[in-house]
Amino acid sequence: MVFTLRVPKQPEGDLPPVSGELPDSALATISQRKFGLYLHVPFCVKRCGYCDFNTYTATELGGFSAEQWPELILLELELANRTLPGLPKIDTIFIGGGTPSLISPDIYQSLLNELKNNFAKDIEITLEANPDSVSRESLYGYFAAGINRISFGMQSAAANVLKVLDRTHNLTSVEQAVHGASDVGFRNISLDLIYGTPGESDADWLNSLKFATDLPINHLSAYSLIVESGTKLAAQVKRGNIAQPDDDIAASRYLTADQYLQQRGFGWYEISNWSKPDGDCRHNQIYWQSDNWWGLGPGAHSHIGGVRWWNEKYPTTWAAALQENLSPAAGREELNQQQQQFESVMLQLRQRSGLSVSKLPRPDLVAQLTSTGWLELAALAGGRVVLSQSGRLMADRVAAELLK
Ligand SMILES: C[S@@+](CC[C@H](N)C(=O)[O-])C[C@H]1O[C@@H](n2cnc3c(N)ncnc32)[C@H](O)[C@@H]1O
Ligand code: SF4
Repeated sequence: MVFTLRVPKQPEGDLPPVSGELPDSALATISQRKFGLYLHVPFCVKRCGYCDFNTYTATELGGFSAEQWPELILLELELANRTLPGLPKIDTIFIGGGTPSLISPDIYQSLLNELKNNFAKDIEITLEANPDSVSRESLYGYFAAGINRISFGMQSAAANVLKVLDRTHNLTSVEQAVHGASDVGFRNISLDLIYGTPGESDADWLNSLKFATDLPINHLSAYSLIVESGTKLAAQVKRGNIAQPDDDIAASRYLTADQYLQQRGFGWYEISNWSKPDGDCRHNQIYWQSDNWWGLGPGAHSHIGGVRWWNEKYPTTWAAALQENLSPAAGREELNQQQQQFESVMLQLRQRSGLSVSKLPRPDLVAQLTSTGWLELAALAGGRVVLSQSGRLMADRVAAELLK
């Protein structure tokens, strides 16, 4: 699929703000916090059996033409421009999916061109890509368009695991994609892995880690397989055709990954993310530090100063709202001070940088956890709460104990 950019329709009159005005207190945070843009590309050639992301194959788009996507993104940008008001300096852009590598480089070049006056000096621009939907030519085009970070979904090096996951690519496509990206100039390359898939052996997992880290990457995300309800995988598990993933196996795979990745020079900086020095994903840190971001596209979520909203999921509904000069937001919530503090504690706890004990609503509750082995004692002595390796497996429990 290759999409071409059509001239965007200009809205008649002013677009209304997102489900009401943003309060002054939220707008005031714009000059104080980092700002990211997320662009959601809701298209996939085929849906993988385990995936419940907001993405559609060609026959599921219900009359929406994927060629409309860029012009609608420009309309939503116009809405952001009026609501904020004025688009702030952009620290990071993340083009996620779905399969953003189904869209041709010239489309991104045109979109990024519209935004370039707002780029921060060292802006990070990430593209999520499927290994079998890129070519050396398209990789060159993405890099030339200004995209400077690329993340491929590898998932596993074991053919039997890729089969259970219902993936369309093989290992040769991963190798070619990563080397191709490196050859055209990408210095920030990430791979996504999934562990704990039924049928995966300890050796398969170690092999996946070795295969990934032998490639020229500086970032790796590893997620435990989640059986999401409503997916093909959930139906297979229910019928007994595929076993339910085992929590103990997943925990042991996590420990293997953390140990192996450390040996290969990748340090953890968030529970599911490891990087080489300077390889952290700065866009994800905007989410984890509760900074500000605007999500453009169907189902995309946004957050400005404690106000959160999310767009209509279906491309046709999202498009219809924008074409009628209406906000495509489907819902919105304003977090009070306590909710913001709780959320910030939970997110910071997942990061290597942790958080200061004094930022906890009840600093006294830390004492009950000192003997559990879940916290780094050296960090605690310096007044910070940082999860130990075993603590990372218990992150939700630790958060619950600290936020009682
Ligand atoms: C939504 S995908 C987008 C990237 C790209 N389309 C791909 O599949 O390579 C982002 C990542 O989420 C992870 N993911 C999606 N569904 C998952 C699930 N049910 N369990 C664990 N990881 C999942 C996969 O590792 C995937 O690479
Ligand atoms: S995992 Fe990636 S390729 Fe597979 S359906 Fe989800 S978004 Fe599409």
